[in-house]
Amino acid sequence: MTHCIAIHSYKGGTGKTTIAANTAALLVKMGKKVAILDLDVYAPSLHNYFKINPKKWINDFLDNNADIYESIIDMTEILFKDDQKQSNFTGKLYTGFSNPSRDAIFKFEMGNGTDYWKKQFRKLVFLREQIITKLDTDYIIIDTSPGIRHWSINALSIADKLILTMKMDDLDIEGTKKLLFEIYTTFVRFGAISYILLNRISGYCIPATTHDSNLEENQDHKKVLEELHAVTGANSLSPLPCYCDIQFSPREFLTVINNPNHPFSLKLRSIISEMTNNA
Ligand SMILES: Nc1ncnc2c1ncn2[C@@H]1O[C@H](COP(=O)(O)OP(=O)(O)O)[C@@H](O)[C@H]1O
Ligand SMILES: [Mg+2]
Repeated sequence: MTHCIAIHSYKGGTGKTTIAANTAALLVKMGKKVAILDLDVYAPSLHNYFKINPKKWINDFLDNNADIYESIIDMTEILFKDDQKQSNFTGKLYTGFSNPSRDAIFKFEMGNGTDYWKKQFRKLVFLREQIITKLDTDYIIIDTSPGIRHWSINALSIADKLILTMKMDDLDIEGTKKLLFEIYTTFVRFGAISYILLNRISGYCIPATTHDSNLEENQDHKKVLEELHAVTGANSLSPLPCYCDIQFSPREFLTVINNPNHPFSLKLRSIISEMTNNA
């Protein structure tokens, strides 16, 4: 069975793309077949993590009925050369990037009316089906647009696990609560599982007394997550600290590949097992 995980948030900049890209790469390292899709169609950025300039995009599948094998790119050889040397390595990474050109984004922006959105939704369901039947993946990871836009709802609709990334700020906490109440309750009622993932919490950059090992004990985080659970029923995953070397890097990168022993990589690995019971 293919698990479909959407990474969503109320605000931008909460780490959706970072978490989506690194989760996909970690699952591949764990031997899984994974497809990652950039459905943050208004501000695509996933391609930056993979350092490629694709010739075809998901847009070609959605707009021009391009073949799945053209619009979805197999990145396994490029990214997992070392892992592939192990004879029993079964991981695969397929990537579907969204076209960041002005014209491609305008095209999505200009789409209007119920018929347009119904058609886009059906195409997305078709994309999911094609990935499952032709690429036979264990996971589909979807990077989404923040907030309550059509494309965010579309992406959430085709997922069975929804991860809401959030930062420790009041606006984000309130917005996340609103999303849980107004949007997520419907998905959860029909079988999806939602999780809150507090990301970029302070910890790694500050003196050792409040460092890493104490993060789980931080009462402020606990309180916020317990409150959100009490009012919305949403589960939470272990918080992820903000790591300066990731935050201030001049370009995005896949920490789990570049630095598998980085605390970010280790924490993300345990978060994935909390979510999949499958480490
Ligand atoms: N745990 C983290 N520690 C440090 N920096 C992070 C972390 N998660 C994300 N970032 C950084 O925060 C910025 C925003 O992350 P991004 O994944 O682009 O957010 P979103 O996709 O939600 O807009 C990026 O520069 C990213 O490298
Ligand atoms: Mg993003």
